[in-house]
Amino acid sequence: MPPILEVRGLVKHYPLTRGVLFKKRIGAVKAVDGVDFELAAGETLGIVGESGCGKSTVAKMLVGLERPTAGQILYKGEDLAALSGRALKAVRRNIQMVFQDPYTSLNPRMTVGDIIGEPYEIHPEVAPKGDRRRRVRELLDVVGLNPEYINRYPHQFSGGQRQRIGIARGLALRPEIIVADEPVSALDVSVQAQVVNLLERLQGEFGLSYVFIAHDLSVVRHIADRVGVMYLGRIVETGTDAEIYDHPTHPYTQALLSAVPVPDPDARERRERILLTGDVPSPTNIPSGCRFRTRCWKARERCALEVPALAVPAALHDVATPARHRSACHFADEKHIVLGGA
Ligand SMILES: Nc1ncnc2c1ncn2[C@@H]1O[C@H](COP(=O)(O)OP(=O)(O)OP(=O)(O)O)[C@@H](O)[C@H]1O
Ligand code: SF4
Ligand SMILES: [Mg+2]
Repeated sequence: MPPILEVRGLVKHYPLTRGVLFKKRIGAVKAVDGVDFELAAGETLGIVGESGCGKSTVAKMLVGLERPTAGQILYKGEDLAALSGRALKAVRRNIQMVFQDPYTSLNPRMTVGDIIGEPYEIHPEVAPKGDRRRRVRELLDVVGLNPEYINRYPHQFSGGQRQRIGIARGLALRPEIIVADEPVSALDVSVQAQVVNLLERLQGEFGLSYVFIAHDLSVVRHIADRVGVMYLGRIVETGTDAEIYDHPTHPYTQALLSAVPVPDPDARERRERILLTGDVPSPTNIPSGCRFRTRCWKARERCALEVPALAVPAALHDVATPARHRSACHFADEKHIVLGGA
């Protein structure tokens, strides 16, 4: 069976122009620059990376809010670009998004009932008009809100409650896939876990598949089955959560993990902290060879000349080790740094 979602060579370049009247193209913002991943049914793929690495742009392409410059998005083996009309609409219904900021993504002048029921205006076939309020009440209950709140406005809710409203809207069309773009980043730390737990419960209840985006590896650790680490428009390392958290082979992932707080003081002592130097390069001017090389402490001459492929290192092909997973580094087979914690 093909994966429920597969992304091949996904690219989004925004033209960079100069001039107001006569716009001249002077380059491109390479927001997403060749992303590949698969999502199995019922699975959670965590996508992690610093601000500006292209996470939201990937999310928007998955749900059809942006058109890819190149590459393919396959839903159960079918290329979305090859679909149109009713067939495309049916697939779109199955891939819904939960947004980062529950303060700006909910229309303040609409009632909660109208916000959650809005998707039925576009897909009336899912719920007949007379049945919509009942469905919305049910959705409020499912996300842990009182169905009596149906006529209230967003400002009458806390941040965590607003995100529950956003999740209810995402569920309205009974999708199979939810793309959650930093769903807890705007929330207080104390409510983040509640919202992550809610998403986990809903996944079990409705058999959902998740693409869960975060800028912090510690946020997705709890929920992700597999993780993809993004840097400057590409996935640079991907594997199961154990492979990525305990045996990272890409220097970027190693650096990100070294910054995650460790509760155990002994493990903290043993751990090496890797500080990333320099700024993230501009996506209009991506370094030659390995795009991470300007900030990589392991960089050598070869790194400027050759683009490392996202692949299992050849030397580890036949070795049973958790380091045997895909990593876009020429030296991913070299013994990784011990990060402590074990
Ligand atoms: N419409 C656009 N036109 C031009 N450049 C854009 C556009 N949208 C995004 N970008 C640029 O593309 C890059 C990736 O943006 P994106 O929002 O996908 O990053 P992100 O990983 O989601 O960041 P954050 O963690 O801040 O949400 C950034 O450099 C951004 O400035
Ligand atoms: S290929 Fe070179 S620059 Fe890139 S991550 Fe590996 S060592 Fe660093
Ligand atoms: Mg974003």
